[in-house]
Amino acid sequence: MSISRRQVLLIGGLGVLGAGGAVLPLGSVEAKSASRLSAKDMPRPFQAAFVEAPILQPTSTGTDKDGSPVNHYKLTQKAATVSILPRLRTPILGYNGLFPGPTISIDQGTKAVLRIRNRLPAVHALDGHALSTSTHLHGSASRPQFDGYASDVTRPGFYKDYYYPNFQPARTLWYHDHGVHNTALNAYSGLAAQYHMHDPVERRLLPQGRYDVGLTVSDAMFAADGSLGYDDNSHSGLWGDVILVNGSPWPVMKVQKRVYRFRILNCCISRSLRPTLSTGDPVVVVGTDGGLVPVAQTVANWRHAGAERYEVLIDFRKYKTGQRIELRNLSNKNNVDYDFTNKIMAFDVTDEPVDTSDPTWNRIPTTLAGSEAMSLQAGQSVKTRRFRLRRSDSTGMWTINDDSWQDVIASGYKKVCADPELNSVEIWEIENKSGGWFHPLHIHLVDFQVLSRNGNASFAYERGPKDVVYVGEGETVRLLMKFTPHKGLYMMHCHNLPHEDHDMMAQFRVGLREDDWDEDDPMTAAKAEWDADSE
Ligand code: C2O
Ligand code: CU
Ligand code: CU
Repeated sequence: MSISRRQVLLIGGLGVLGAGGAVLPLGSVEAKSASRLSAKDMPRPFQAAFVEAPILQPTSTGTDKDGSPVNHYKLTQKAATVSILPRLRTPILGYNGLFPGPTISIDQGTKAVLRIRNRLPAVHALDGHALSTSTHLHGSASRPQFDGYASDVTRPGFYKDYYYPNFQPARTLWYHDHGVHNTALNAYSGLAAQYHMHDPVERRLLPQGRYDVGLTVSDAMFAADGSLGYDDNSHSGLWGDVILVNGSPWPVMKVQKRVYRFRILNCCISRSLRPTLSTGDPVVVVGTDGGLVPVAQTVANWRHAGAERYEVLIDFRKYKTGQRIELRNLSNKNNVDYDFTNKIMAFDVTDEPVDTSDPTWNRIPTTLAGSEAMSLQAGQSVKTRRFRLRRSDSTGMWTINDDSWQDVIASGYKKVCADPELNSVEIWEIENKSGGWFHPLHIHLVDFQVLSRNGNASFAYERGPKDVVYVGEGETVRLLMKFTPHKGLYMMHCHNLPHEDHDMMAQFRVGLREDDWDEDDPMTAAKAEWDADSE
């Protein structure tokens, strides 16, 4: 490995490279453990109770200039210690000190102003990088200066107000740190959370309230003292041996004999999942990254990369009281798997009476909702662009068409990899020739349709509006999208976050020429402010 790198990251002083045998690229590696916990401190599947992230309450509600309702929220990024392991406490960085952060739940048509206060320590305890952050609401067509542009950072002691339009159809979004070159370690340390947008169509069709359940799935490795370890194998990726759901290891959730809706976010910084039920029964996919699918898809398992969201219905009606159904992980090529990474969580069926006056208790809709992204036709495209994802042989850097975010920085944030017109429709073809890596490619601003994969139809479960596409080994995908509704600079990048940080990220410019005045310039339009508030 003659790769230039900032080799961080240690577990109790020792890299885990040897322990996991994980020198990548690799086929699929199986290893015992990545964590250095003693046997009694190591969590085991199905010992912890399932918990949901709390819902964040607005600090105030009001009306915008244009008469639309607006909710104001406040979140403080801070260091905290939380209880993840059975006996030891784990230092994390979290929104309001939580791992994951609180869920924001809001209706379409209600705008949001989210004040993010950076009260983090000056530097990260593991590698000493400065804890400047940038907050991205992933899944929102936000204006560029509120989109978590990686280099638009808020330093400790400052705050920034982010304005979210919430005009899009109902969907599962999530917010996470996007700080330049340090997104992976910051998100891994806890700076990630769900954000649910509701609309009347979705409210009528799908389970709500306690039957509408967010599952934020992540993986972690632990040092002997219970702190998080980090080893990204020379920026290939981090594969932890402990699977967490909403911050609990392999939890067990009690369920009634009815239909539940799960909003599954793969929040692992590198690992991809292939979830499946232990019963062999299928699940029904009703939503993808950008909201409801046009037609529900019944699938036995699905390939689920970091940052992708799948909303699935699981029907527990036919199971017996006391029966345990496991949500398992069949994994995919080029992950590193450990003894228990084949499990995610479990459901224990109870005999708690079911409220059958709720029409979603037994409803499995077959048609859901159309959307602008899904009604686009390939014939509307005015341009096809091609992007090649690869690792540079000479520098070891991850690149998009041989470019990286370093090149964007060096150009004074001018350099772009594409310049679509506002409201134009284009086809973007993304190629990954490598057999040793998969890349979850994320494009900001847009919802896209996956037109094809290697010339064949897309997978049944990804036939909905998407903003991340799994570009697997040796795959070429074609995406169809409309660049709306904002002009300006937006990022695209791999969502394997160590790849993103080193430095598989580029930007495109919508509806502007290079020298046009950009009132939404993300580096200058809305700066962070000094936070005078003392508590
Ligand atoms: Cu979820 Cu640009 O990120
Ligand atoms: Cu995003
Ligand atoms: Cu990648």
